[in-house]
Amino acid sequence: MARDLSTDSRTDTDVLVIGGGIIGLAVAWRTAQRGLRVALVDPAPGGGAAQVAAGMLAPVTELQYGEEPLLRLGMASNSRYADFAAELTAATGQDTGYRATGTLAVALDADDKAELSELHAFHHRLGLASSWLTGREARRLEPMLAPGVRAGLHVTGDHQVDGRRLAAALVTACERAGVRLHRAEAGELLVEADRARGVRLGGGGELRADQLVLAAGSRSHQLPGLPPGVLPAIRPVKGQILRLRIPGAYAPFLSRNVRAVVRGGHLYLVPRANGELVIGATTEEQGYDTTVTAGGVYELLRDAHELVPGITELPLVETSAGLRPGSPDNAPLLGPTALPGLLAATGHYRNGVLLTPVTGDLLAECLATGTVPELAVPFSPARFAAVPTLAGSAR
Ligand code: GLY
Repeated sequence: MARDLSTDSRTDTDVLVIGGGIIGLAVAWRTAQRGLRVALVDPAPGGGAAQVAAGMLAPVTELQYGEEPLLRLGMASNSRYADFAAELTAATGQDTGYRATGTLAVALDADDKAELSELHAFHHRLGLASSWLTGREARRLEPMLAPGVRAGLHVTGDHQVDGRRLAAALVTACERAGVRLHRAEAGELLVEADRARGVRLGGGGELRADQLVLAAGSRSHQLPGLPPGVLPAIRPVKGQILRLRIPGAYAPFLSRNVRAVVRGGHLYLVPRANGELVIGATTEEQGYDTTVTAGGVYELLRDAHELVPGITELPLVETSAGLRPGSPDNAPLLGPTALPGLLAATGHYRNGVLLTPVTGDLLAECLATGTVPELAVPFSPARFAAVPTLAGSAR
């Protein structure tokens, strides 16, 4: 049922989004497009984990066993990406770096090959498109691959976007759609009569709204004033990543995303249209630490060199580290929490960039209609809450 905005007399803001990473921005943009009055609070909108992400859109090649609901969500988001990126560019004049390159997953030894073959069979059972390649066929697609590559899995539907450009375009889109961006710290959640009402700002003052969305990544559960049991701890999972530059003489170097599992870790190389080659990423659970370490850079270069030996010729232009927001089951929290007036859009872990379009759409639907769309139901924050969530109601 559509929400009657004419009765909205308590505040001049229908929705306040706490957190201005790409998830919070997409929620704010899509919600403003539904005609609601939206504000967003973040000291630096457009920052967050997307500044570090490689931007792989890989629901099929990153598929994990037992994560079929997440696959459905990822496929839904992937299928919206081209239109989402085009709409953002039309609204802002800014390019997002969306590139329909496809992805090649490769195996370096016999064990990797067996694992890749299992993944291929799993794709087949689920009706997902992926093609098995011999090592020679994989090298024909990507001549820079090491001669030792044994096999490949070509997934033509797993693409890429540039997280930094995406974030910048979303900030502009929000501004143009009338979202009020408050460049400030949300110091405390205001809860009155058992309902979320707004936030007190770190530097003083308050922002009030009828509904709030908590989208503060791995800091979400730390918001002071959040009653116990409303959100589980969202753990920070550090990823170190490298940026190399492909000089014109070496182009195209790689034509699509290339990935492998090397020594148990996910390794991927993402070649952007602007000549950047992103190599990621480590997976480290050690709190809120974003130090780039010699060990992290060494491991990435060592493993990437095994896969594509020619990378050692390229200029290394940046090293960085970010924090993925991991929920207890590594799936996102989407929709109403047990605290009336408060919704969550957090815990996207390895899939934040991929899930941005669908998260924006699903949360905007919850906020505008009070109904949780079917696609969001498996990701209800209620699965972690100590007290029952108000089923099916966003308000
Ligand atoms: N999705 C890639 C990563 O989290 O490293």
